[in-house]
Amino acid sequence: MLVADNRILIIAAAEHIGPLAQADGLGKVRGLHLETLDRDAPVSDMLLKSAALVFIEVDPANAASMHRVSDIRARMPGLPLVAAINGASVSLVRTLVKEGISDVVSLPFDIHEILQVALDTAARQEAATGQSSRLAPMVSVARSIGGCGATSIATQLAAYLATQDASGRGAVIADLDLQYGSVADFLGVTARGTLADLLHAEGRLDEELIASVLGRANGGLSVISAPETIMPLESVDSDQLLKVIRMLRQDFGYVVLDFPPDWTNWALSAALASDVILLVVELSVASLRQAKRRIELFRSIGVESDAIQIVVNRVEKRLFRTIDLNDVSETLGHRTLGSVALDAPLVSTAQNQGALVSDIRAKSRFCKDIEKIGDMLRTGRLAKGN
Ligand SMILES: Nc1ncnc2c1ncn2[C@@H]1O[C@H](COP(=O)(O)OP(=O)(O)O)[C@@H](O)[C@H]1O
Ligand SMILES: [Mg+2]
Repeated sequence: MLVADNRILIIAAAEHIGPLAQADGLGKVRGLHLETLDRDAPVSDMLLKSAALVFIEVDPANAASMHRVSDIRARMPGLPLVAAINGASVSLVRTLVKEGISDVVSLPFDIHEILQVALDTAARQEAATGQSSRLAPMVSVARSIGGCGATSIATQLAAYLATQDASGRGAVIADLDLQYGSVADFLGVTARGTLADLLHAEGRLDEELIASVLGRANGGLSVISAPETIMPLESVDSDQLLKVIRMLRQDFGYVVLDFPPDWTNWALSAALASDVILLVVELSVASLRQAKRRIELFRSIGVESDAIQIVVNRVEKRLFRTIDLNDVSETLGHRTLGSVALDAPLVSTAQNQGALVSDIRAKSRFCKDIEKIGDMLRTGRLAKGN
């Protein structure tokens, strides 16, 4: 077993350690060390020194308990830390991810969950040996209103980023629009599986399973398709989705996410995890009004202002002279990254044929504008950490 030689340290208060020590199946995890410590008691270097993986109780309502995590992270930057918490909100998970937490488990402890996370961590570390363990840059493409072109931009942007990945791992686009997803259709991709297979995989989620559900578009772009049958939005488990996303970020050079119309908790978690949220607007009152609301929503859950980038789609040359990007920026109270030309009927013609726009006309205005945006992102937000 992968975790056999590793030392797994579990730090929690007596009320959680007690039941865990009695749990069936505890013997299956060798090298397990249970340490009883109050939720905010300092953890000594001595204790951490020999650990390969640490599960630690975190009480979000207790400042000292939260601080304890950042303190360990600062002292042992390479040590995988898993937060054990009682119910997780989006903003809490975000804070923890910022602190460098690699995973989250729920309290009271479940030995199977501990085992699974330990195996995942070991597998990730194994996969990262010999290569950078840095997660690939990720872009969430969000729409202001339906039909404004988010999926069109997401697919072509992903295809462009695939051509720009120096590591040779290409890009993947995941269609999170569980009910009306059209990414695979737009790209003419048929795959053996869908996102639903990954979301329902639980413990079986691994690189092999991901590879088995991938569809392949042209030019190094891989696709995770939306489920074939409509899946209730509330059936998605945020943790599992974040695990899928994390694995994609390990396997590919770039990750692009396309979103459903409604911002449920899991969709927000995914958007929060990305380096950039590309918000697509068009020059209409309805679109700009919705965009303003979206920006407020993203800000309210703690997305950094710089992470939200506005793209104005379907700009007509003629219109562009009278309404420019500054007007959009002013209306939204947010800077605009760039614009994408209206290129009809080229874009829909390509999509109806199941082809990338660039496959049909690489030098089109649409493609050139998306390349420009892709380059700005690559040298801007997506370059961080490179
Ligand atoms: N820049 C553009 N030029 C021409 N047609 C476009 C452009 N952007 C989007 N479209 C078309 O608009 C329609 C809706 O686009 P889609 O990407 O599905 O929107 P959304 O994902 O925001 O709902 C599609 O038929 C697409 O071909
Ligand atoms: Mg769409």
